[in-house]
Amino acid sequence: MKLVFIGDICYKSGRKMLTARLKDILGKYGADFCVANGENAADGKGINGVIAKEIFDAGADIITTGNHIWAKKEVFFFIDSEERVLRPLNYPRTNPGRGYAIIEKNGMKLAVVNLIGRIFMDPCNCPFEAMEEILPELKKSTKAILVDFHGEATSEKTAFAWNFDGRVSAVVGTHTHVQTADERLLPFGTGFITDAGMTGPFEGIIGADRETVIERFTSGMPAYFTMQAGRCQLNGVFIEIDEKTGKCIRIERIYEVED
Ligand SMILES: [Fe+2]
Repeated sequence: MKLVFIGDICYKSGRKMLTARLKDILGKYGADFCVANGENAADGKGINGVIAKEIFDAGADIITTGNHIWAKKEVFFFIDSEERVLRPLNYPRTNPGRGYAIIEKNGMKLAVVNLIGRIFMDPCNCPFEAMEEILPELKKSTKAILVDFHGEATSEKTAFAWNFDGRVSAVVGTHTHVQTADERLLPFGTGFITDAGMTGPFEGIIGADRETVIERFTSGMPAYFTMQAGRCQLNGVFIEIDEKTGKCIRIERIYEVED
């Protein structure tokens, strides 16, 4: 089973590059599935129904999210009925939406779990405990399990991957918008990368307009971030899983920058 994971899609330019490039990328890797993090897709924060459709039309099967999931009120119009858009599983149970999905294609089943970290992030339930709880349920359907761990701290994402080594197929970190070069296969068969990176403005500061971000740091005053103009990047990872064992065979970074 082959899949492509796309790092945090940011702003309109990120969506545009996704639409322009994703089908080629999926073809190049012979991908059966595509999972994309879309929590920054609407104007840098949040997602709405029109934008979710744009990401699905570009080639994604599942959209994962993170701390900005509730940023746009339009998300509440569809999150309960749209099973392909996930919110962090370890948010309170009373939250709308769902934290995992099982998708089937070409006779293969892939489980996708969306979790969020607790270090330098807003309070939420324990991601480790949430994963332990859901694992037996997922294993009834498939051994191929992909986790999007949306978190700030490299330590938390790495600890999670090692803790679930051999029990999930891959752990892909998101949220920092900076792709890490530490992709690897852990000893018991879990593919891991601390952060998949971002699909959006290349010239900005993690996607946002440089001047505004610098102004915020230098003045200490709040600021409203906008999209940085200029070239765009597309970040992600390619993952191959042996669907019989659920073990990851290959994990490779995808890093493209517009000319
Ligand atoms: Fe985030």
